[in-house]
Amino acid sequence: MRVVRLASEIDFAGWRLAARALRSLQAAPDDVIWTVDGEGDLFGDEATPPQAGPPAFTVPKGFLDLAQEVALHRSGERFTLLYRLLWRLGRQPELLGLASDPDVARARDMAKAVSRASHKMKAFVRFRLVEDAAEETYVAWFEPAHRVTEATAPFFQRRFTNMCWSILTPDVCAHWDREKLTFSSGADPADAPGEDALEEYWRTYYASIFNPARLKTAAMQREMPKRYWRNLPEARLIPELVATAEARAEEMVRQQPSEPTRRVVRQAQRLSRDGSFEEGAPATLEEVTAGADFCRRCELWRDATQAVAGDGPGRARLMLVGEQPGDQEDLAGKPFVGPAGRVLDEALEAAGAPRAQIYVTNAVKHFRHELHGKRRIHKTPTAGHVSACRWWLDAERRIVQPRVIVALGATAALGVFGKAMAVGQSRGQALQLPDQAQGVVTYHPSFLLRMPDAQAKSEVYAAFVEDLKFAWKLAS
Ligand code: URA
Repeated sequence: MRVVRLASEIDFAGWRLAARALRSLQAAPDDVIWTVDGEGDLFGDEATPPQAGPPAFTVPKGFLDLAQEVALHRSGERFTLLYRLLWRLGRQPELLGLASDPDVARARDMAKAVSRASHKMKAFVRFRLVEDAAEETYVAWFEPAHRVTEATAPFFQRRFTNMCWSILTPDVCAHWDREKLTFSSGADPADAPGEDALEEYWRTYYASIFNPARLKTAAMQREMPKRYWRNLPEARLIPELVATAEARAEEMVRQQPSEPTRRVVRQAQRLSRDGSFEEGAPATLEEVTAGADFCRRCELWRDATQAVAGDGPGRARLMLVGEQPGDQEDLAGKPFVGPAGRVLDEALEAAGAPRAQIYVTNAVKHFRHELHGKRRIHKTPTAGHVSACRWWLDAERRIVQPRVIVALGATAALGVFGKAMAVGQSRGQALQLPDQAQGVVTYHPSFLLRMPDAQAKSEVYAAFVEDLKFAWKLAS
């Protein structure tokens, strides 16, 4: 029997080194015990370290990706399972394609759980200001379902580059001082700072962007499990929000996004940029919402909190397409909920077009921005971003089948029509689109927000309302 002692619970590099040597030595999986004690040699006293040499075998690339995720699972069997898979791959190189094989199925389930845990961490970590720190410092306490802190920390580094922060978890703590990402040993829950002004701010903000879909208790517990609630300042708002939003919640419960299927994730991550309609494209809006979050067709996912897909009825006569989510949309996960959304809502009301009956989305699903100090400043997406993201917009168009699609501004027009258009010259008229829908171009609400001259602004606003009225009539 050989005993392998790895340097830490997530020592994938150590596992890989040992597993490679063991397989070269023909050590059967049942003859190997994998342990972790955080210290000591890779091979315990009972074992003779195998000679390290070049591997006499290769494994499919998919195996290493899978193994890296599985290694972060909390299950005590993870390293044994991985070595068994590695061993079996020697005799069955196609093994990973056998979805019904118990080892393969277990490893895939574990990898999925790890990826979900990382996703939850990105969504539910809440930083609190540390009051007496010498430098403005933010701290969050989080208990990830699996050991994903080190792997997920670079996301926070990119997302909060200009902040000094620490994420404390029982496994390990991650620290960013605006220059270096470091890790220290796990923390006690008592180390997490208490309530403060930031929390109050967050609560106010959360209430203002509150989305009643979150009130679907079962979905909420699935998506935002109770174990995370006590660390979420907004959680205490929930009873009150539940009481005031029951009716709307009913409607939104039906629209709750589901986990993306593996097929959609695979498609979402494919680097195809040709914009063609690919086999395996999402077939439902739930798949669009869940799948877009995994999209890697361009680089914008890196700095965004999440993808923001469209919102509205699954079949709508009218679809409005904006440019890209803004700062508030990026945080809320819904399109047009910030200042531009308020202009849009007002104009829709003036046009007699009820937003609840309209599908609202964007040409680009991730927030492109630049950091100016602590502020995230909108940056117009390029034609390349629009083209990469058209895959999602096309899926929404195909599923919703609107009679009329309104492009709000030039970037949206590029996404909808596939070519550059001058808004001032093309606005306010019906233009034929290839998918049977009619297209209408109009101003983007943010254009109005930026206009300094009151007279010009009121003229553009009136034209904007007229265009929306025209589109709504055309769709009716
Ligand atoms: N601007 C857009 O184009 N879309 C949004 O969702 C918000 C602001």
